[in-house]
Amino acid sequence: MNNRLRLGVNIDHVATIRNARGGRHPDPVKAARLAAAAGADGITAHLREDRRHISDDDIQRLAAEIELPLNLEMAATGEMLEVALRHQPHAVCIVPEKRQEVTTEGGLDVVGAQAHLEAYVGRLSQAGCRVSLFIDPERHQLIAAKSVGAPVVELHTGAFCDAEGAARERELERLREGAATCLELGLECHAGHGLSFDSVLDVAAIPNVVELNIGHFLVGEAIFGGLDSSIRRMRALMDQARTELSA
Ligand code: PXP
Repeated sequence: MNNRLRLGVNIDHVATIRNARGGRHPDPVKAARLAAAAGADGITAHLREDRRHISDDDIQRLAAEIELPLNLEMAATGEMLEVALRHQPHAVCIVPEKRQEVTTEGGLDVVGAQAHLEAYVGRLSQAGCRVSLFIDPERHQLIAAKSVGAPVVELHTGAFCDAEGAARERELERLREGAATCLELGLECHAGHGLSFDSVLDVAAIPNVVELNIGHFLVGEAIFGGLDSSIRRMRALMDQARTELSA
C-alpha cells in the first residue's frame, strides 16, 4: 500500500491511570513498546503545564528508551522550549493549553500569535525537530501556519467526532477542505483528537492526510480487549480506508 497512513499512538492516559494512585503502574514506556509491536508508527505524549498525566521523567524515558519516533505535544512556552531542546524529540506538535480545560479544546490561534510562533517554530526547527501546529481546519489559520514556517499541521478532528447528523457531515467537509488547503500550500497534513473506531474511517479516507494521532479511545478500549488488540483494530481500519481509496 503506497498511501499508507501513519498511526501515532498517544499514551497520555496510561499516565492518567498511573497517576490516579501514584507509583509506577501502568508504565507509559511499557505501553509505548507494546504500541510499537502492535503497529504504531510513532508515540505521542503531551507534557502539560500542570503535569496532570505525562511527567518530565516519562518524556526523559520515552526519548531515551523507545525506538519509534517521539512526537512531543506541548504549549508554546519558554519552559516547554527548554524541555524540547533538552530531549530533541523527532517531532513537536504545538497545541494551545488552558489550565481548566479537560482536554485540548480548540486549535491554536496562529493568526493571533504569528510573531511569537515564527520565532518558536524557528528555534525548534533549527534543533532538528519536525514542527507541527494543531489547528482547526480554517483557511486563514492554515495560511498563517505556512507563513510562520511550520512544515506540518495537525487538523483538530474533535468537532467532527462530537457532531451528529448533518453537522457531522459539515464538519467532515471542513476537514476535507482543510486538507485540500494543506495540499495547495505545501503543508504536510496530520489529523487527530477524539478519533474512535466509528470516526476513523472518514478521516482516514481523506487522501492527503498522512498521519493520525489517537490516544484516549485506544487506552479506553484497552480496558475491554487489551492495548494490543485496540491498536491493531485501529490500524486495520486505517488500512481499510486507504485500500478503498485506491480501489
Ligand atoms: N492530537 C493532539 C494535538 C492532541 O492534543 C491530542 C490529545 O492530547 C490528540 C491528538 C489525541 O486525542 P485523543 O486522545 O482524543 O485521541
